Amino acid sequence: MKNWKLNSWRKYPVKHIPTYDDEKELNDVLNKLKTFPPMVFAGETRHLKEQLAKVVDGKAFLLQGGDCAESFAEFHPDNIRDTFKVILQMSLVLTYSASLPVVKLGRIAGQFSKPRSAPTEKQGDKELPSYLGDNINAIDFTEKARRPDPKRLFKAYSQSASTLNLLRAFSKGGFADLNKVHLWNLDYIKKSPQAKKFKELEDKIADALGFMEACGITSDFNNRMYTVNFWTSHEALHLPFEEAMTRVDSTTGEYHDTSAHFVWIGDRTRQLDGGHVEFCKGIENPIGIKCGPTSKPDEIAKICEVLNPKNEKGKITLISRFGHQNVEKFLPKLIRGIKKEGLNVVWSCDPMHGNTIKSTTGFKTRPFNDVVNEVKNVFGVHQSEGSYAGGLHIEMTGQDVTECTGGARKISDADLSSRYHTHCDPRLNSEQAIELAFLISDEIKKNTSYSKNAIQAAS
Ligand code: PEP
Ligand code: CO
Repeated sequence: MKNWKLNSWRKYPVKHIPTYDDEKELNDVLNKLKTFPPMVFAGETRHLKEQLAKVVDGKAFLLQGGDCAESFAEFHPDNIRDTFKVILQMSLVLTYSASLPVVKLGRIAGQFSKPRSAPTEKQGDKELPSYLGDNINAIDFTEKARRPDPKRLFKAYSQSASTLNLLRAFSKGGFADLNKVHLWNLDYIKKSPQAKKFKELEDKIADALGFMEACGITSDFNNRMYTVNFWTSHEALHLPFEEAMTRVDSTTGEYHDTSAHFVWIGDRTRQLDGGHVEFCKGIENPIGIKCGPTSKPDEIAKICEVLNPKNEKGKITLISRFGHQNVEKFLPKLIRGIKKEGLNVVWSCDPMHGNTIKSTTGFKTRPFNDVVNEVKNVFGVHQSEGSYAGGLHIEMTGQDVTECTGGARKISDADLSSRYHTHCDPRLNSEQAIELAFLISDEIKKNTSYSKNAIQAAS
């Protein structure tokens, strides 16, 4: 890549990168991070890209989910396990209904830095810098807590590495064995309105596995039934950190951002002439681009071209997040703009970020119905444009939180204060996430292009 260097992004304007008051301290931390082991291996990111290429071809579905912002306070093995469980459960629901493999991608093991709508926050008469994510400053409303502290990057690295270690153990160590599907159930689900539906699915899978076992096909010798591939992702917002984690792959000489398998560029930092796009030009990882109401189709097409000059399948995922009422207004034009240039992309839907409102009780929330309606509208538009709605990108947790209103349990504005734990945006709780998976599977069944793809995938 001509003129690209690991640090060439530094010559471009950048948004949403913190200013540290001690530059030397920051550089010392970054230089140390450069000597730390990579989090992921280049061969893994290549493998993920191959899986995403199948999504481009309509032969797989992408499920990306996790916290809006991971936090030091919520770091606990049970939280990691429960997020993993819900993603497995959602995948099972989707795989079963669509007969398509699901590419499982966590917003996890590094999803810390946040772009904020305002640089400062006011409480009463006091105004302080905004909270920017636990790898930068702390959420407490004091001057000391809000000062960006470079050493927090070490703690974030360490938390990401141990999170990833546990995820690898769960994925490959037998926890994800299809024969153990009943163990993925969280306690909540036994009491949940989704319990009956999930139990029916479990029974069908048990029948199918019983049949396969009778034919001599068991997970003892079939690795695919015993393990899953689980990938990690986060927003590549904190470029000094991403630069420090980017390494040359000794087998190919290519640059890989080894902080995660997949990184994305946020809706607020996707300027063509900005540092975030410049940085992502030189790395081999698959890249997501968030597309909100201000995105212009020709600009998005241009970003795809500069990030993926060879038009490689699986390299680019466009994540639309228009808001449920805006999908018809913006998405068809975007799809046509991308099609006109013949660009290969995964079309994923983020039904969260365009549907955030303030509740009557003062909490930031997202009505579950709006989330569902954005997904339905996106499926509808892809259906009429003849493109493939290939992915879902959600903010969710395995915990029984009350952050998004609605869902089968009808969480109300008044209920929000009960278990509102997010450090940033409101997440779907485990029950709402599974409910969404069942609703999407109904959409998939309605969608004729899915049946066509599923038949092709099977043949
Ligand atoms: C996010 O995904 O947490 C986020 C900030 O999204 P967006 O860039 O789409 O606003
Ligand atoms: Co968010």
